[in-house]
Amino acid sequence: MKKIVILTGAGISAESGLGTFRAEGGLWAEHRIEDVATPEGFARDPQLVVDFYNARRAQAAEAAPNAAHLALANLEAAFDGDVVLVTQNVDDLHEKAGMKRVMHMHGALNGALCGACDLRWPAPMVMAPGDACPHCKAPAARPDIVWFGEMPYDMEEIYDHLAQADLFAGIGTSGNVYPAAGFVAEARRHGAQTLEFNLEPSAVGSQFDDIRIGPATQTVPEWVAEVLGG
Ligand code: APR
Repeated sequence: MKKIVILTGAGISAESGLGTFRAEGGLWAEHRIEDVATPEGFARDPQLVVDFYNARRAQAAEAAPNAAHLALANLEAAFDGDVVLVTQNVDDLHEKAGMKRVMHMHGALNGALCGACDLRWPAPMVMAPGDACPHCKAPAARPDIVWFGEMPYDMEEIYDHLAQADLFAGIGTSGNVYPAAGFVAEARRHGAQTLEFNLEPSAVGSQFDDIRIGPATQTVPEWVAEVLGG
């Protein structure tokens, strides 16, 4: 096994105190996707949207990586091969755990994006509607989050990695949102072994060769120890 591609979702950050989306009382139980996670919602009520991401940014800033994040950083550092981490998460807990390469396919809370010239720059802790772009000066700054109906980042590179993977692991994701939910099928198509980590089988659980049920802070360090030959 020379190449491991890992996809993480909100479940890996749940034990760090960051809510998931589709759990009871999760983010989408409290907020309407149409209002806070679509370009149309941002056009309709930008204050509502920036308030939502300002609050999440402040919460993420207080959060610490857990044993699952730390185990993956250790895998990246110690594995005698290639470890590629793709995350749907917009928090920076993988980076805080010491992960060197993190592909944020859905953007990042710590990023701002210009709706006029597509410049991306580090976001202030508190954004406001109409913040100016530091490059084109247009009052078009928005959170650098990939909203529903928008194309995720780095898709070409991600598919290249999936095509070369010996092992694909999905950690803490419900398998409800594409294109990420389709990665397991893509990796399998190219002959990869596939492994899921979750509290329960995800919506695409049946497509995985194997599943490790339990909290990520338990199952992921155990698996990393196995891979590294502990
Ligand atoms: N350990 C392992 N898995 C967990 C844990 C835990 N401690 N806690 C929750 N989970 C699992 C849940 O069982 C669920 O399958 O994590 C998954 C979280 O699912 P979602 O809330 O749907 O989050 P995610 O799959 O990351 O959402 C995908 O949807 O809302 C959009 O853009 C947003 O990136 C997000 C995308």
